[in-house]
This record gives sequence, C-alpha cells and structure tokens, in this order.
Amino acid sequence: MADAKSNSAVAETNEAQIAVHWKEEEYFDPPASFVAQANLNDPAVNERFAEKNFPKCFEEYADMLTWFRRWDTVLDTSDPPFWKWFVGGKINASFNCVDRHLAKHKNKAALIAVPELENEDPVVITYQELYVRVNEFAALLRDFAGLKAGDRVTIHMPMVAELPITMLACARLGIVHSVVFGGFSGEACGLRAADSGSRVLIYMDGYYRSGKMIDHKAAAEIAVATAEKEGQSIDKVLVWRRYPGKYVSAAPMVKGRDFFVDDVVGNYRGKRVDPVPMDAEAPLFLMYTSGTTGKPKGCQHRTGGYLAYVTGTSKYIQDIHPEDVYWCMADIGWITGHSYIVYGPLSLAATSVIYEGVPTFPDAGRVWRIAERLDVNIFHTSPTAIRMLRKTGPEEPKKYHYRFKHMTTVGEPIEPDVWRWYYDVVGKREAVIVDTWWQTENGGFLCSTKPGIDRMKPGSAGPGMPGIYPTIKDEKNEDIPAGSGKAGNICIRNPWPGIMQTIWGDRDRFVRQYYSKYCKNPQSKDWRDWPYFAADGAVLPADGYFRILGRVDDVINVAGHRLGTKELESACLTVEEVAEAAVVPVADEVKGRVPEVYVALKPAYAPSKEITDKVVATIETMIGKIARPRKVHIVPDMPKTRSGKIMRRVLAAISNTLDTGDITTLANPDVVEQIRVAVQGKEKVATKEGPEDLKQFGKEE
Ligand code: WTA
Repeated sequence: MADAKSNSAVAETNEAQIAVHWKEEEYFDPPASFVAQANLNDPAVNERFAEKNFPKCFEEYADMLTWFRRWDTVLDTSDPPFWKWFVGGKINASFNCVDRHLAKHKNKAALIAVPELENEDPVVITYQELYVRVNEFAALLRDFAGLKAGDRVTIHMPMVAELPITMLACARLGIVHSVVFGGFSGEACGLRAADSGSRVLIYMDGYYRSGKMIDHKAAAEIAVATAEKEGQSIDKVLVWRRYPGKYVSAAPMVKGRDFFVDDVVGNYRGKRVDPVPMDAEAPLFLMYTSGTTGKPKGCQHRTGGYLAYVTGTSKYIQDIHPEDVYWCMADIGWITGHSYIVYGPLSLAATSVIYEGVPTFPDAGRVWRIAERLDVNIFHTSPTAIRMLRKTGPEEPKKYHYRFKHMTTVGEPIEPDVWRWYYDVVGKREAVIVDTWWQTENGGFLCSTKPGIDRMKPGSAGPGMPGIYPTIKDEKNEDIPAGSGKAGNICIRNPWPGIMQTIWGDRDRFVRQYYSKYCKNPQSKDWRDWPYFAADGAVLPADGYFRILGRVDDVINVAGHRLGTKELESACLTVEEVAEAAVVPVADEVKGRVPEVYVALKPAYAPSKEITDKVVATIETMIGKIARPRKVHIVPDMPKTRSGKIMRRVLAAISNTLDTGDITTLANPDVVEQIRVAVQGKEKVATKEGPEDLKQFGKEE
C-alpha cells in the first residue's frame, strides 16, 4: 500500500460544469508477485503508445494475430468518422481463436462450461475438440442452412459451450453473428433479428436458472412471429439441446423450419471447413444496445481491428497467459462476454470458464467453489455481482482455497468501500484489481490502470488505455483541465481499432449519436476534429485517473446491464389504459440503478392493481425480466413544461428523495406535491446530496 492522498476536490456549481465533492482515495500498489510475472510491466509502453506514435502504435496489437495477408494502411481517415483499420489485411477470427493454437496447445482446455446444477460435472473442451466442433457446425451452417460470408444470423442462447462454438463457426465463414442476451424476451430477439435481416435463428431448448429448467425454445416462437410482423421471414430455427437427444421444452418443433442441431450435425461429422480470409474491415458481429431512442441499435464491429484490440487488451490488461484459468462472470450476450470471454481470451489460447447459472445458486459459496475446483486465477465481474456476493456471504471467500492473481471490475462505477471488500476478502490482498471503463460501442477497454505498472485507486477507472487519449469536455466544447474538480462529458480524442464501424443500417444515427456534439468541422478529414462522445459523465483529478460518474443520457445501468428508458416507455404505451409514461432510474443498494415507472391513464380509466400488473407484464414480454421495474406509480398527471414536455428530472428526484429543484415554471406545479406525497408520504425528506447521474437525469430535456 502506498502513500495516502487527501486533497478534496471541491468547486462551485454552475449550469455547464457540475461541482463534484469527492474525498480522494488512497492508492494501492500492485503486488510484487503479480508485477514479476505480468505480460506488461515495462513503463516504456507509455512512450510506445504516445500520441506521436499514433496510429502506428496499434500495430503492436495487430502483430499478436495471425494474418493471411498483412495490411497496407494502419488507419484510413478518408471518410470521417467511419475509420478503417489495417486496410488491405486479410484475417479470420475463428482461425485466430482456434486453429493457430493446435500446434502447441491442442490438448489444453479452451472452454470449461460449468452447469448450474452442482451434481453435473463441468464440461471441458480442448482446443482440438473446439476445432472439431466449430468445423462441424460451420459445415452445417454452410451446407444445411445455406449461409455465407456477409449473411446475418441471430443467436439467442444461454451460457453454454455451444454459444462460443456457434459464434466461432459463424466467424469461420464470415457470417455476421448477432447474439441477443438470453434473458431478453422472444419479442426483443425478434425485433433485433428483423433489424439485422437474419433469416436463421439459433436457439437452445432450455437452461437452468436458480435450479429451475427454463423453457427457452418457447421464446423462439415469439421471436419468429415478431420478426415476420416486421417483414423479416425466418426460414430456419436451429435448436441446440441442453441434453442431446432429450428435448426439455414444451414448445412444438415446426416441421421444415425447426431442427435439432444434434440430429443434423451427424451428417457433418469429421467435416473441415477452411476459414474464409476476410477483409480486416469485414463486419464480425452486431451487438444491439440501448440508446436514446426506443429502438435498440446494432453496433457493428469489424474483424481485424476488433480482434487486434481485444487480443492486445486481454494480454496487457487482463494479463492472460496460455497457462492461466480465466473466468469472466459476464454473459456472452453482452459485449463483455464477446470481447473478454470469447474473442480476447481464446485468441491468446487461454482457458475460458463459462458458468450457466446464478452466482448464488445453491448458496453464497458457489462462485468460490467453482474458483477452487477449476483453480481459476483470473477473475472478472461487475460491481453488482460483488455487492450481491458480499451481501449474501461476506465471509464465504475465506472458506475456499482459490488464489486469484488478477481481478477485474466492469460495467458500473464501484463504490470505494465495495472495491476494498473485493480487494481484501475476495482477492485476499494478493490480487491486483483493474477497474475497466468502456462500452458496447468501443470493442474493448478505454480507461484502466495497467495492472503490472500503475497503482490502483478504489472507485477510479484510471488513465486512458495505451493509445487511447480521453478528455473531459464541457457543454461549450472546452476541455476541462485535470484537477479542476469539475465534471463534464468524457470523450476520446482519437480513433482506435476496437471502435464500432457504424450502427447497422443507420450511418446518420452513428454520426449524430457519437460525433456531432463535439465535431467543430464536419468537412475535416483530420481525426483530431472528431472526438468520440461517450455519454458518460466523469471527473479528472490531477493524477490523471478518470472517475466515471454514470450516463448523461436516457440510458439506465441496471446491474451493469444497459437499458433505454425510451424502450421501457414505448412498452408501457402499448398498454391500452396508459396515456403517458415516464421511466426514471432509482438508486439500488445491490443493482446500482433500477427503473421506476410513472404512468398517467386515459380519461376513461381508474387506477388499479390490474393496470400496474399489466404494465409490469408488458415490459417483461417486450424486453425481458431484467427490465422489470421496481415500482409502477399511477399518477393523476405528469409534471410538464408549458410546451407539454414531461419533466422526467422531477420524477427522478421524487423517486430518489432528492430535491425537486425549481418547479415554478411547470405548467402544473401542483401535481408535483401530489405525486411526492403519493410516493414518499406526507413528511418532507428530500436532500440535495445524491449521485451525480441521478441529479443530472432528465436535465437536458
Ligand atoms: C458504464 C459495458 C463506471 C458506463 C462494458 C458506460 C462503467 C456503460 C464502467 C456501458 C466502469 C462501464 N466504471 N461505469 N468501469 N464500465 N460503465 O455498453 O456508464 O453495457 O457508458 O458496456 O456502462 O455499458 P455497456
């Protein structure tokens, strides 16, 4: 542990720059045993990736891969902000994650899939076995489903080994996969399938969650119907079975459309499919995420740059060596799983662990038993999971003999107190921690400490990653200097290989969403004129460690999962009785933020429990259980501006017992007190202090 620092950063508040009160935290040194073995422990990396060496510095990552043809140009900026990376290069992601390891590591475990039921043993898949299974399934995709490079496929599967096998089989042929988180509803899957133009869906029949078999194939029916309603017909549904030969779903198989993979794959036993050499710029996958409008957007990621970026960052920041056993608890259906369960670790020949179920099933010791049994030494999870594990079993980690050298936290801001429990109890003071800040759009980490070089600071992600030059901007497009104590919008000044290519089918939205805000000259072909706007608030103290405060847009981060308030509102508005809806984030001790819903009814209807139940059920059907609101409030009217806009910031303040601020300019100020009393009770309890994202929520409107 190193010297303590206690300069508190305090500044005055004004409209554009938010004052942030924060006691500086103590630094922690990475353990010497970690540093000695780290892939990256030479500070010369800072020089190599300094701005004067941009963009060539990123060849260091591309050189970690095996290319069929080397690139001609590192970065092509001719069509800003549609950057092109490693142009002219030919590469295959499946080859890099599988074939190239066979010579040295064919008998090494590539994947260890841990079923939720503890009496089912983990399934170990070696690199040789992965090679066989990826090839056979690729043959099936090509010869049975008729798919080829550039086609899109939607995959709606749980956390099982068959999911990365499916993804790698797609990548082998250049088929663009779009994995939809297993916890999303069939309807959410169908909408995404339609947007991407997929004519094939890939499912699993069922999986275990909290000890219960979930009928997942039932969602496929709804997905197909939803896609067809959107004008996209689905020719084939390929269904993996949780237990080959034994169907666990009650949903009927539709003749000529639905096929069991374990039946069909028999025709492709022993088949080999040559990996297709893809352009570096060919899309590898789509990942749908929530944004500021009701419709989720398909973040389109490229093959070469993406794979280079996740491989480089897995090596340097996750410190993965081939002999490590690496376990990331995220779901593969989110970007963290794509980059840091599948593509990054497998590209480095690591052993990547996949766990099917709930971390606390059947009890609070499960995670640590898995770590002990598999001898996991690199562990990766979210603040929500850490808070939950701490709450349910604060002493559990001590009972098990695992030993982590490295731990990651990702997805939400972590409270310093929670960080310290992670460090002291989970890591047993022997593991280094990286707090990695990034987004679906980014492909890989943007801010983090370099674990073998930098000191750690609880609650702060850290400096920009090698080759990433972040800055914080105010509303007037001025950079806020480090150490000013003022918060603003974190931006990345430069392009990097992991950044998405575009929003699938919507170039304008891509430019608007991420670049219009701070681009001073849309004609410019110089990347310096195109800072990337991340939609997160942040502060930067003098030490250069970025502290992320949370979203500045309509996105709510629920348990590290990204949900759009507009998506939830659109769902509410499909309920017949509902006239208006507003969704706001509420602080939650474990999940970080959870949604609360406010609805106003059409004149003919009176408030009832049936209506609130209907709203909840509709959200679950249209989006999924993860979007379940904590409460639904039926209000007599929404607080509105004189021009009729719903004031979500007032509702967010009420839900979080924060000061509602100035409401005198509203069209209907009286309703605010009525709603407040209905939600909080008669007594006034509001405070001015609260998390920055909650205080800022809805202010832009
Ligand atoms: C938040 C997840 C604080 C942030 C990889 C971002 C974080 C959103 C951190 C992206 C972190 C992610 N500290 N906040 N270390 N990492 N976030 O797209 O608000 O699911 O914008 O990607 O999560 O969520 P997404």
